[in-house]
Amino acid sequence: MRLRIHSNYEEASRWAAAYIAAKINSVTSKKGTVTLGLPTGSTPLGVYSELIALYQAGKVSFENVTTFNMDEYTGLAPDHPSSYHYFMWDTFFSHINIDKKNVHILDGMAKDADAECEAYEEAMARCGVDLFLGGAGEDGHIAFNEPGSSLSSRTRVKTLAPGTLRANSRFFGGDLRRVPKTAMTVGVATIMDAREVLIIVSGANKARALRAAVEDGVNHLCPLSILQMHRHGIIVCDEDAAGELGVNTVNYFKSIEM
Ligand code: GLP
Repeated sequence: MRLRIHSNYEEASRWAAAYIAAKINSVTSKKGTVTLGLPTGSTPLGVYSELIALYQAGKVSFENVTTFNMDEYTGLAPDHPSSYHYFMWDTFFSHINIDKKNVHILDGMAKDADAECEAYEEAMARCGVDLFLGGAGEDGHIAFNEPGSSLSSRTRVKTLAPGTLRANSRFFGGDLRRVPKTAMTVGVATIMDAREVLIIVSGANKARALRAAVEDGVNHLCPLSILQMHRHGIIVCDEDAAGELGVNTVNYFKSIEM
């Protein structure tokens, strides 16, 4: 597992966006198409705006990019302003040249949620994800795989932890009661199937989760720690998120990465 420690969020986002753009260019030049897994939340905003800038500068094209989003709240229609559908089109997809038919996001309104999750998992497996981009929760969750999630989990409906409901209430006007209690999410093993996984961790509120993921063993109580088992896992963080790491850990990764 690689760990890149950048001085701030902007630098971490710039590096991650450049990495993703290079990946899109190299994979499409070899295979013709590339498949990405994508997250929502505050963390990827910097990467999305950098990727939009790279697209506008003619440095990357999304014409042959297929995407699968990590998760979606159950019971929210795509046009609901707090849905992940809305978020993705608003902050990213409507600013780039992606083909709508190549965008996949779980349908939070599906009548048969289990069938929706199963079909999504199969569709991802058919395409094969080249790079999964993600963020992490304060408790170390990835996508909506809360602490305690099976490390071999697949796409399914999950009940959200109280801390996640609280953290995400900011996207619902600060009203905890409006946050859906369940969501559909790719599983930990779904993410691990990707050829590469790149997780961005930013801010002092994520420092404990990052320390557990990097310095402790693999543990289902910190789903992010599964990255230790990935052949091509990269965590990109800022100094604030690295604040709880031991000096030796920081020195080691800085010496091999910079
Ligand atoms: C949500 C999402 C995760 C995201 C996490 C952290 O729970 N399901 O995919 O990584 O929030 O969000 P933020 O980046 O806003 O801190």
